[in-house]
Amino acid sequence: AETVARLCDDRELVVASNREPYSHAREDGELTVDRPAGGLTAALDPVMQAAEGTWVAWGDGDADREVVGPDDAVAVPPEDPSYDLRRVWLTDEQVEGYYRGYSNRVLWPVCHLDIAKMTPREEFWREYRETNADFADAILDSTDGADGDPVVWFQDYHLSLAPRTVREARPDAFLAHFWHIPWPSWDVFRACPQYEALLDGLLANDLVGFHTEEYCRNFLDCADAGTDARVDRSSGSVSYRGHRTFVRSFPLGIDAARQADLAESDAADEWWAQFREARGIDPSETVAVGVERLDYTKGIPERLAALERFWEENPEWRGDLTYVQKGTESRSGIAAYDALQDRVADAVERINDRFGTDEWTPVVYTTDHLPEAGIAALYREADLGLVTPVRDGMNLVAKEFAAAQTRDPGVLVLSELAGATEQLGEESVLVHPYDTAGFADAIGEALSLSRAERRQRTADLQRAVHAEDVYDWLESTFETAAAIERGRRSVRTT
Ligand code: F6P
Repeated sequence: AETVARLCDDRELVVASNREPYSHAREDGELTVDRPAGGLTAALDPVMQAAEGTWVAWGDGDADREVVGPDDAVAVPPEDPSYDLRRVWLTDEQVEGYYRGYSNRVLWPVCHLDIAKMTPREEFWREYRETNADFADAILDSTDGADGDPVVWFQDYHLSLAPRTVREARPDAFLAHFWHIPWPSWDVFRACPQYEALLDGLLANDLVGFHTEEYCRNFLDCADAGTDARVDRSSGSVSYRGHRTFVRSFPLGIDAARQADLAESDAADEWWAQFREARGIDPSETVAVGVERLDYTKGIPERLAALERFWEENPEWRGDLTYVQKGTESRSGIAAYDALQDRVADAVERINDRFGTDEWTPVVYTTDHLPEAGIAALYREADLGLVTPVRDGMNLVAKEFAAAQTRDPGVLVLSELAGATEQLGEESVLVHPYDTAGFADAIGEALSLSRAERRQRTADLQRAVHAEDVYDWLESTFETAAAIERGRRSVRTT
């Protein structure tokens, strides 16, 4: 956190994201605060505390409006207020058009190569534009009066247009953007009717980051074909409207040490003992696990089809291999997500009817909220981690699973279409999520690996997830930003 704050060089740091790091609710009359549960928000929180900056986000908690000071901001964390959380309040039309509409029914499917699900309605685009303008206003208000030019770090696909508005008002601000989902090839991206405006917004940044080299290449191709920018592939940069944007890959990581501690915690032991008992999983059973939001990109129906094929072709594994699927409800009310929830529930029921017995349930399905230690226990106990999205920017579950293998090491079965494959592919059993027969064979192959082989693969995987964890990600992003700034300063002074 200190390093990052230093790299900002005492300039005002503003982070802008759709989701907020702290949200408020009222329970039985009491005001409660939901804290960052893990991942990126938890990693950024200490950085913001050290930098004493501002975090701009959609105020979405039921009671958020009760907790506002001047400028719609509240100082967080509550017990040691050190930075401002400034909320952007959205109308119902904005939530519908900007979040549920343009972000999740246009950009999400396009970037995940599913253009058939794209719903480019005019009102979605209008609300997306307006909301990005509201975010830009909140950012500019937060930096008003600050010494020097601010550093603004935009997160994700919800905020593609805001950088242009901020750039116009603060030409010398340093603007960086991290895109947390895949960036598709030009052929796919051009299906989105607003491609030029989106590129125009993103190219107002000084630095645009993606998880993988492949997404960087795709972005450069899109900038080349979709605008009149000059693209320099050798330096990974784009010159457009008198400004140069650097495009770099920063593969997001996890807090691997924390994940390993969670897996070894008493809470994990207790949770697993209770869960196993409640769900009738015998200690002798082999366990496979899948943990995700119920999103069509995660490949859950495709995975269930492969498991069904496996049990069909390998009757000796019936009664032995149990699959635990944790599915978190997500984006309900959007037709594609509602349909997916039904599809998963139906497939689980069908498979359990087909193969289940009085003593054995093939698929143990839960949509309950699970504590972090419970999820870590699931990973730790699993013999197979099935991380098989049909498309995914990175996929941090693959990394969490690897970090949590603190006992008898399990095998990571990974989709070749996940961003994580660029880093973890070699030590995993790779599958193509749509190749049901090949996927079923791969499950058999993973189950047949010797203990020595599993140990070796796990050691390599763990080395990779510890070596490039979320703190390295933060540091390398800010170091790159500082290097770009140094380069500019030296050009100005020569
Ligand atoms: O992967 C992109 C992402 O925005 C993640 O950062 C986040 O965990 C996930 O999608 C959740 O989506 P939402 O904010 O729509 O619930």
